[in-house]
Amino acid sequence: MDRDWLERLRSTTAEHADARQLPREAFVTQAAFDLDRSIHLSAWLPVCHVSEIAFPGAFFAVEVLGERLLVVRGADLELGAFFDRCAHRGTPLTEGEQGRLERLELVCPYHGLAYDLRGRAREPHATRLAVGGRTLERAWVAERFGFVFVAAREPARSLHDEVAPPWLERGSLHALRLARRVRYEVLANWKLCVENFQESHHFASVHPRLERLTPFSRSSSHDFGGRFLGGSMELVDGAETVSESASLLGRRFVAAEQDRRTVRDAHLFPGWLTSLQPDYFLSYRVQPLDPGRTRVVAEIFVHAESPRAAEEDLFVFWDRTNAEDRSICERQQRGVSAASYGPGPYGPSEDGVHAFDRLVATEYLRLAATV
Ligand code: FES
Ligand SMILES: [Fe+2]
Repeated sequence: MDRDWLERLRSTTAEHADARQLPREAFVTQAAFDLDRSIHLSAWLPVCHVSEIAFPGAFFAVEVLGERLLVVRGADLELGAFFDRCAHRGTPLTEGEQGRLERLELVCPYHGLAYDLRGRAREPHATRLAVGGRTLERAWVAERFGFVFVAAREPARSLHDEVAPPWLERGSLHALRLARRVRYEVLANWKLCVENFQESHHFASVHPRLERLTPFSRSSSHDFGGRFLGGSMELVDGAETVSESASLLGRRFVAAEQDRRTVRDAHLFPGWLTSLQPDYFLSYRVQPLDPGRTRVVAEIFVHAESPRAAEEDLFVFWDRTNAEDRSICERQQRGVSAASYGPGPYGPSEDGVHAFDRLVATEYLRLAATV
């Protein structure tokens, strides 16, 4: 591995005033992407809201960097997580992103081996396979703030031990209902997508409509000292929320009372970006596909008792805003891909970007030391 760019990462971990942005190699090389893969596979990754996986047999699958992870609600209502790969000869047991196992078992489509929802193969003689006692390989699963998370490898810390932004705990996130889920690909490295989320300096030029409701001048960043980063943006007088109409239109509050004049962003490193608005919750799952390509799953959750008629007001606003971010990140990727690109220092308003980059650089240096 070329160690030179890894050495240059040390300047990203320096104090803010002296630090340099991530080197070009972090956004374009396979070597960096291999490290990205390790980061994502040993991190807590968002799966779905608890309301979507409430019943026995309900399952979700997350495809992350070549692995397919399955999270399933058992008959005892406990969640189980497995690599979706038959213990006989490796065939995935499920298809699609979500579904329901009516018979409360996983049946391999190849030779018919069946597993209970704890991942144990049963009735091996029924299929004449001498594979009794085999089990599906387990993954890690956790629930917090009304969301379900999975990890392919044991994460460094339990999700419950991470110091989280308090607004995630005090909001009504358990009472959410999915209003919209869209997926799109961004022709940019996943870290550019996250960096974009970590600052609001670009609002005036990229999102003029957003700037009018939550101006950059009224924003600030928070570092919770672990895997959570955060940001706050005050709503302007006269705006009830961030939407096409800037009005609640009968939508119920989701944020706690003290958070209803401030939009609260939270990032769980590496791939969950969230925004708690007074009356809804945005979730972005950022999934690297290759060094220059990222899948984003963008979701809008509202309070379960909010009227459906009021949702278009959110969709129009965020479809446009997401498209603006996608376009500017793709443009930036073209610039940082140039062999002549060299990173500069951080501006004073880029403390949130630096906090994220520092987590990346620290992980890269730690992982590279073990190779
Ligand atoms: S691969 Fe699953 S039963 Fe053979
Ligand atoms: Fe943006």
